[in-house]
Amino acid sequence: MEEYVFDREAYERRVKWFQEARFGMFLHWGLYAIPARGEWVRSVERMPEEEYMKYFREFDPVDYDPRKWARAAKRAGMKYMVLTAKHHDGFCLFDSQYTDFKSTNTRCGRDLVAEFLDAARAEELKAGLYYSLLDWHHEDYPHCGDSIHPMRENPAYSDEGREFDRYLTYMHNQVRELCTNYGKLDILWFDFSYNELRGEAWKATELVRMARALQPDVIIDNRLEVSGEGFGSLAEGHPTPYHGDFVSPEQMIPPQGVQDVNGNDLVWEACITMNNNWGYHATDHFYKPASMLIRKLVECVSKGGNLLLNVGPDARGNFPDEAMERLEAIGKWMDKNSRSIYGCGKAVRRGQAVIEKPDYGRITAGNHRLYYHVFENTVGAVPLTGVKREEVEAIRYLATGAEIPTISDWVYSNYPDIVFAQLGGDPVLPDPVDTVIEVVLKE
Ligand code: GLC
Repeated sequence: MEEYVFDREAYERRVKWFQEARFGMFLHWGLYAIPARGEWVRSVERMPEEEYMKYFREFDPVDYDPRKWARAAKRAGMKYMVLTAKHHDGFCLFDSQYTDFKSTNTRCGRDLVAEFLDAARAEELKAGLYYSLLDWHHEDYPHCGDSIHPMRENPAYSDEGREFDRYLTYMHNQVRELCTNYGKLDILWFDFSYNELRGEAWKATELVRMARALQPDVIIDNRLEVSGEGFGSLAEGHPTPYHGDFVSPEQMIPPQGVQDVNGNDLVWEACITMNNNWGYHATDHFYKPASMLIRKLVECVSKGGNLLLNVGPDARGNFPDEAMERLEAIGKWMDKNSRSIYGCGKAVRRGQAVIEKPDYGRITAGNHRLYYHVFENTVGAVPLTGVKREEVEAIRYLATGAEIPTISDWVYSNYPDIVFAQLGGDPVLPDPVDTVIEVVLKE
């Protein structure tokens, strides 16, 4: 096979919109919404196929209205959405010709993926599909010998007669269907490599070459090589033909962002749940407060990354109330402050070191501005570290455009090089979650 030559210019062109978008919605939905104990319910409870099939016979999301989903995502300030086309259980939310285990064969009879993509595009959002490389339904996928298959401990499900190559043909055919029959895909979110199942074990070069031939602008995550753990070959400086376009840290935010072996920043997206489950979980009410979710979005951007925030719709196709409340609250903050998110990243300027995170919050930068995010009020004026007085054109509240005066009172005289922004005498911040100070830099 000819040597793979990484085309950095094409790569940077491909990921540009993604780095500017910064904020997306992840959607985990399928049969597992009925047992409502998370998307791994079959594996965790070692549930036999025939027991799981009762959910297939029952699945009928009478309230499914993806336009409502897309509007909720847009309302929250999200710029893209990623829906599970097939999760580890193998159930296809699309009309695949290679299986009967699909949404068009359930009571709803609908191609849920097609409707989802139409809705996202109608709301002018970029749209992607998550596709699990695993498949606990397919006969040729490892069962008893696998480390996570629901029947992994049941000798009655030995791997005798299972042809993994036959599964790979099925998997590649489905990816081809998704890349052929559903218009322009913006993201292909594969999940996940584990043990010896990674890279060419998935025939990943052939898979990515096919996907890129059909969807030349699609961006692909790094999970043909790794999972939430590991960064992938692009980070290691020797990109494979199936290197991810972005690193996909899961349920955590990288302490320093993500860099390759040479210290160059990499494109990354943290995928995080609002509660503790990807799929709908009826008793998991441990939802992160909206204030925390806003600050985590700011944290991701301040470290040069994206946040893919998950919603697990219920079996009728509705978002949980807790999720809707948070999306609305995040949207309210984004209405006034999204300029400190979109097109922004680490507070680093030409030839200068990144500005250290301030005690009181975080800093994002972009559009020739620095954005000081004040999560916790300071005693006295707010030190705008990392910028010189002579570089400053104006200092404003981002939310209102109101001017913020600076102060160089005697108490600050020991720090002549630091610009201090005077937010006034009220100890309560104008926005107690995150008051954003916009520093417009001189051209
Ligand atoms: C893990 C989980 C999977 C989930 C994914 C999201 O891989 O196994 O259920 O879809 O994280 O990143």
